[in-house]
Amino acid sequence: MIKQTILTGLRANNDLHIGNYLGALLPLIDMAENQSDKYQINLFVPDLHSFTTPIDHTLLHDAVFENLRVFVAAGLPLDNDNVRIYRQSYVPAHSELAWILECFTGFGEMSRMTQFKDKLQSANNEQVSVGLFNYPVLMAADILLYGASYVPVGEDQRQHLEFSRDIAERLNNRFKGGLFTIPKSVQEQYEFFGKDQGLRIKDLADPTKKMSKSDDSGKGVIFMTDSPEVARKKVMSATTDSLALVAFDKANQPGVTNLLELLALLSGESLEAVITNYRGQTQYGPLKTAVADVIATFLEGFQTKLSQVDDDAIAHKLLLSESLMSEQANATLLRVQQAIGLRA
Ligand code: ADP
Ligand code: TRP
Repeated sequence: MIKQTILTGLRANNDLHIGNYLGALLPLIDMAENQSDKYQINLFVPDLHSFTTPIDHTLLHDAVFENLRVFVAAGLPLDNDNVRIYRQSYVPAHSELAWILECFTGFGEMSRMTQFKDKLQSANNEQVSVGLFNYPVLMAADILLYGASYVPVGEDQRQHLEFSRDIAERLNNRFKGGLFTIPKSVQEQYEFFGKDQGLRIKDLADPTKKMSKSDDSGKGVIFMTDSPEVARKKVMSATTDSLALVAFDKANQPGVTNLLELLALLSGESLEAVITNYRGQTQYGPLKTAVADVIATFLEGFQTKLSQVDDDAIAHKLLLSESLMSEQANATLLRVQQAIGLRA
């Protein structure tokens, strides 16, 4: 039986935060721990995606390795043959397939990507590269090269995931069928990962926007490298509201709702149980303290593991995975090259 592939990529720009951890990393690690006999699990660092926005290039190579260390500290089992870790730029087929897919992608189609439009608005014009505009196509190549069925990502990547299905179907229809495995629909993905929607952890200081490492102040972002005390302070000064009633209400009480969600995710309790526990409370202090406690405990455990990560084991696994991934990726690329007339 050919295993289905679960795949995700986490960029190495600044530090990863608990939004990245809960939205993208944790679902994949859960699968690696519990289902790896049924699935191939690919966790990679999309290093070519790192400079779609300006970065300090002298730090990039080390930052990529640091991401891999975070994956391991978060629980990714390296000794499992069905788990693969790799760097995008070490498998050149990603760039080659991206170019081919770009030539089948409409300019209008890319222009409609809401993340691009948002970033365009907040950047000045020189900062907006063609790479930023095109990056969903490279992302589609990342997914289609390995025939991935499931791609755990946060809500902000939903449109890009849908694009990867569209472009795969387009080429399958235009050329011979079966060129690409079509990733599962976003709805099927949520069901598979046991969620009813994509996760979007909010910024603690401004809960109307998502927690993001691109945020300049970092006041509302819990980084995986924050000391437990710093994280605790960020939670205690989280923005809530003046309604004085704990309720799960995304539209009217985004701050309180975010805290309830964080508490559920990090304590392992169900969201319903957490909501019931706090229902009717008129003070936000106890909820904040509970969230601060789970976050502090979580970070302590995580950081202890991070300090114990074996770098040689990562280097060894990378070498092995990158060679296996190249084989798999090159086989897909050759099929595409043949279909479009580049190879006999
Ligand atoms: P950032 O916005 O912090 O730069 P990325 O765009 O690099 O994050 O996202 C990396 C992964 O983490 C993606 O799968 C994304 O959907 C997920 N993710 C990012 N922020 C959040 C969040 N606040 N809540 C849930 N998932 C998130
Ligand atoms: N674009 C994703 C982000 O910014 C990262 C990414 C690149 C990715 N290639 C991917 C995620 C393929 C999932 C699958 O977060």
